Amino acid sequence: MTGVVVAPLWTGFDLGPAPGVRVTPGPGPTLTRGRETVALPTVAAGAWRDLAYGRLTATALREATRGRPADRIAATVALDVLDAGGWLSYHAGGDPPALVAWRRGTATLPPPPADPAAETFGLSRFCHVVARDGDLLATAPAYGFDVAVRDHRLWRILSLLARPRRPAELTDADDGDLLAAAWPLLLATGVVVATGVEDRPPLRYWEPADLLAHGESREGLRRKPFGGTYRFAEPQPEPVRPPSTDQRVDLPSPAPGALPEGHLFRVLAERRSVRRGGAEPITLGQLGEFLHRCARTTAEYHTDHGVVRTRPYPSGGAIHELDLTLVVHRVAGLDPGGYAYRPAEHRLDRLPAAGAPERRLLDDAAVSTMRTAPPDVLVLIGADLPRLAWKYEGIAYALVLKHVGVLMQTMYLVATAMRLAPCAVGGGDAAQAALLTRLDPFARPVVGEFILGSGPDDDTDPTE
Ligand SMILES: Cc1cc2nc3c(=O)[nH]c(=O)nc-3n(C[C@H](O)[C@H](O)[C@H](O)COP(=O)(O)O)c2cc1C
Repeated sequence: MTGVVVAPLWTGFDLGPAPGVRVTPGPGPTLTRGRETVALPTVAAGAWRDLAYGRLTATALREATRGRPADRIAATVALDVLDAGGWLSYHAGGDPPALVAWRRGTATLPPPPADPAAETFGLSRFCHVVARDGDLLATAPAYGFDVAVRDHRLWRILSLLARPRRPAELTDADDGDLLAAAWPLLLATGVVVATGVEDRPPLRYWEPADLLAHGESREGLRRKPFGGTYRFAEPQPEPVRPPSTDQRVDLPSPAPGALPEGHLFRVLAERRSVRRGGAEPITLGQLGEFLHRCARTTAEYHTDHGVVRTRPYPSGGAIHELDLTLVVHRVAGLDPGGYAYRPAEHRLDRLPAAGAPERRLLDDAAVSTMRTAPPDVLVLIGADLPRLAWKYEGIAYALVLKHVGVLMQTMYLVATAMRLAPCAVGGGDAAQAALLTRLDPFARPVVGEFILGSGPDDDTDPTE
């Protein structure tokens, strides 16, 4: 047994289709999942066939392409694509397999941290157990896998791992082979980890419930349906109100009357989600003013616990863990691409070109806001959660989401006052955002999205 997994997962295990993936046989079989399709190259027909049965192995594929280097490369590339795209399940421990694992989302997350010198191992502190589709799944969302544990003897072993153990302590004579077969997959999926590795950043700063909530509420980290699916057939529940007496107090309202241009109350009254902006792009000057008024650093204070800063919007502990990444589609005076906003310097730093993720993020935001073209600018709100969790226990992730709301309203009001086109977006793809920023999705997760454009030409929102 080893604590280090270096090879791609597909080299180590029997392979089958992930749940929801259909394999249509053929010389180069076709895999389908919803509306997505992948056609495998026609290089290893005999071996590919076993994919449908969960019996494809890297060894069989090597055999099937022996003496044909080009075919072998094509098969290897195909497996890489299937692996990264979450098309595969990984099987271990016999036939039927005792353990079947698959990726939870589209993100290929960093592998579980390893410690080659580790002598003891335990259940990941992020591991939780859920029943789904007749399987009992062990899953540690930090590493992006669901693991169906189908042999009850493995549950006994997992329960022993509630405290650190040497592998030798885990088996009796009957299940030694089973453990040896299952152990590499338990480690590769992060259900079991070397003692102490989760005490390192960034995982050190996450509480299990926070990480689970984050993983379940971001595209890319989950594959289940997402967003406004109206999944319940019954009518919407009645509003829940506290029981009250028959004593009613009618409240006074302010006298009607025109407020001066730019007055806060007028801006509040005029604020709308404007999904479609003007024909001309937003300008760099407008973008600069918008960021200055919403998100720049306004002051810095030295405290016993380090430096805290202020911005135009409030933030628990003045830690200001939120930061902005812009995906620019169309700004007069600024090249398209990704930019990091530096609030202390009020500056944009160009990110290395990311290509596909930039387009995907812009397209997703367009679809979410019923646009036919990408927005001028997509603002990604990232959270430096470790800096907040360093101070706050139990409330760190809840605070992050509250701060996102506070910032979103600030952006709405500033954009309204500036006659720009603002609209919040309810969700986004954490995996694509991580590809754009090149940041570990748990060191600096993206937690919110907002689109911004030039003001509409006719002052009405055609989507309403
Ligand atoms: C957190 C949040 C998420 C939202 N997500 C979306 C979205 O994904 N797509 C969209 O078109 N509008 C989105 N909106 C805008 C709402 O649809 C909008 O606020 C609502 O319809 C009320 O319209 P108003 O903002 O013009 O008052 C979002 C608003 C908020 C605050």
